[in-house]
Amino acid sequence: MDISGSLALVTGGAGFIGSRLAAALLARGCRVRVLDTEMAAGRIEIVRGDVRDPGTWARALPEVDFVFHMAAAVGADTDARRYLDVNAGGTVELYHALESVTSRVRKVVVASSLGVYGEGTYRCESDGLQHPELRPLAQLQRGEWEPSCPACGRGLTAVPTDEGATPAPVSAYGVSKLAAERLALLMGRRLDVPTAVLRYSVVYGPGQSLANPYSTVITAFATRLCRGEAPTLYEDGEQQRDWVFVDDVVRAILLAAGDERAAFEVFNVGSGTGRSVRELAEHLGRRLGRDLALEPSQRYRVGDYRHLVLDITKMRALGFEPAVSLAEGLDQFVRGLDSVGTGSVLGRI
Ligand SMILES: NC(=O)c1ccc[n+]([C@@H]2O[C@H](COP(=O)([O-])OP(=O)(O)OC[C@H]3O[C@@H](n4cnc5c(N)ncnc54)[C@H](O)[C@@H]3O)[C@@H](O)[C@H]2O)c1
Ligand SMILES: [Zn+2]
Repeated sequence: MDISGSLALVTGGAGFIGSRLAAALLARGCRVRVLDTEMAAGRIEIVRGDVRDPGTWARALPEVDFVFHMAAAVGADTDARRYLDVNAGGTVELYHALESVTSRVRKVVVASSLGVYGEGTYRCESDGLQHPELRPLAQLQRGEWEPSCPACGRGLTAVPTDEGATPAPVSAYGVSKLAAERLALLMGRRLDVPTAVLRYSVVYGPGQSLANPYSTVITAFATRLCRGEAPTLYEDGEQQRDWVFVDDVVRAILLAAGDERAAFEVFNVGSGTGRSVRELAEHLGRRLGRDLALEPSQRYRVGDYRHLVLDITKMRALGFEPAVSLAEGLDQFVRGLDSVGTGSVLGRI
């Protein structure tokens, strides 16, 4: 399915991933309309409004061929009502509005998140694959960082998490993203609007602001390094994470939009490789010219999972292959900081 020449609606198109996607769609010869509460820049039509408002959708949807639903309340606070309202409620409003538009939307791509999984997947030598709960507080207090097998209590080896893992979100945000993706699949099926759900791992890249209150580990580390302070490594710093470069995510979104096989299905989108928090801090320190001693703090945060890396076999079957290594991606991230001026960004924190 060729998407060039079509009209694409990008919700959340003023945001980090949405703005990068909008630019890529323009480059592919699409016309782009953005729905966002904020202003977006570029050669695009803007529908300013809220995804919870049916009137906004009525203005945004006419003539649209593809919907890229990226708008969301994001972050790490505990305001469950806001997450459910915007993320689940906004998605419901999209499908209600699709019922009444006359033009035929060919595909909806919904942004979901690794936040639906909770703790990652592990292998026990005697009990096979395990998807343990979060580590109990008493274990963290003892400074024992690795989860143990729920069946036999012995040690586990972390393995990538695939889409078949039972979702077990451990944050209000994760619950809201799970609700949103389930509702999208349910209502998409009922209306026969092909819907693809993409669960992104941790996305990073230029355009990600250090001033964002919901800093990820990359922005938090960059902030500290720019101030000449060593990043705080929780636990022993060996936690595996899956950092995926924003342009790889955009490529996956475009692939899913154009592929008829990506319908009523969930796909993981990640880098394909786990990296430790310590490795990330080292890479970033080098790039920012700060050679600071990295001492794991042995402190912990209740609610943190230990390792989570996404299995991208399913997305690979659609032809997806991450192209940007962590080293290259961090170079671009750091150059992005330079172009906005690290000083001025830090000044706003
Ligand atoms: N950045 C990541 O690491 C990551 C990881 C997994 C999933 N995701 C998902 O990807 C999507 C995009 O994330 P992002 O990192 O670009 O976030 P972002 O905050 O940069 O962008 C989200 C955009 O949505 C808009 N928005 C928020 N509430 C809205 C509302 N009620 N109505 C209309 N617009 C609204 C915001 O103004 C913003 O421009 C989100 O759905 C997010 O859950 C992001
Ligand atoms: Zn076991």
